[in-house]
Amino acid sequence: MAATHAISKPTRHNQWYDEDLTEVNPQIRSLLETYSKVPPERVVPHVNAIRERGFAANPYPCIGHYRFLTLTLLTHPLYDTIRKRLIEDPSTRYLDLGCCFGQDLRELVSEGVPSEQLTGLDIEAPLMELGYEFFLDRETLKSKFLVADIFKGAEQGEPWTSLEKEKADIIHCSAFFHLFPLPDQIRAAKNVARLVRPNGIIVGRQSGSVKPGEVPAIAEGSTSFRHDISSLQSMWDEVGRATDTEWKVSGTLDTVGMIAKKNAVEDENSRRLLFTITRVR
Ligand SMILES: C[S@@+](CC[C@H](N)C(=O)[O-])C[C@H]1O[C@@H](n2cnc3c(N)ncnc32)[C@H](O)[C@@H]1O
Repeated sequence: MAATHAISKPTRHNQWYDEDLTEVNPQIRSLLETYSKVPPERVVPHVNAIRERGFAANPYPCIGHYRFLTLTLLTHPLYDTIRKRLIEDPSTRYLDLGCCFGQDLRELVSEGVPSEQLTGLDIEAPLMELGYEFFLDRETLKSKFLVADIFKGAEQGEPWTSLEKEKADIIHCSAFFHLFPLPDQIRAAKNVARLVRPNGIIVGRQSGSVKPGEVPAIAEGSTSFRHDISSLQSMWDEVGRATDTEWKVSGTLDTVGMIAKKNAVEDENSRRLLFTITRVR
């Protein structure tokens, strides 16, 4: 019998639509059980149903492959520092760029961070909307979710212009820059730079490489640039010159989460890149 997703899933996207899960990782299970109060036996069907609806709205690999179930910020070495700072200083602001369902933001809230200090931003309104149904918190969550295009920056007016005025101390931006070729990454980063308060940080995880350069991307004929720490620093030096700011990049490349066999997305040079980009001026 055909799985239900066969009905809504466009055929051309089959290659990045995994079979329904039979179990989820412990972090997302814990978040859904304790924060969202989903009964343990309902967690897996709930996740599969949300994945199907999310994919029908936006057929991205990160949804088809269930990557949104990885609470990325938790894997960053500054996670505890970020969480404590947000709890101890109510003036601290956190912004999640390309937040998808808002899963990392909910993890912070579940650990005691006041939700009004947190903002999510994504170009896809349906994903943020579905986030309320995923985490069952429409009535309680006080975070704002903004629909905006990082590439358009201030030229799109509100809500971006208000964000630029207020700025954030901590920006989380995972699995976003690696989607694009280097010139596009620089263009987006110039807009992101204008959202960061002095001494603020941009943190995240993305696909990196021990041989930085352009690699074929999912769309036929397109490329995306994979960084190491040094190429990422060069990019932010260029962003700094263009925005009259200065940035210090640190981070690590490792093989955690790399799919062992070569596939359409990763090759032998691929690494997980965890980065921290600090605005030093
Ligand atoms: C690969 S997903 C990563 C989601 C999440 N940050 C994570 O780590 O799992 C990329 C996200 O960026 C969003 N996005 C793509 N282009 C964007 C743009 N130009 N402006 C804002 N968000 C964008 C997508 O809608 C999607 O939610």
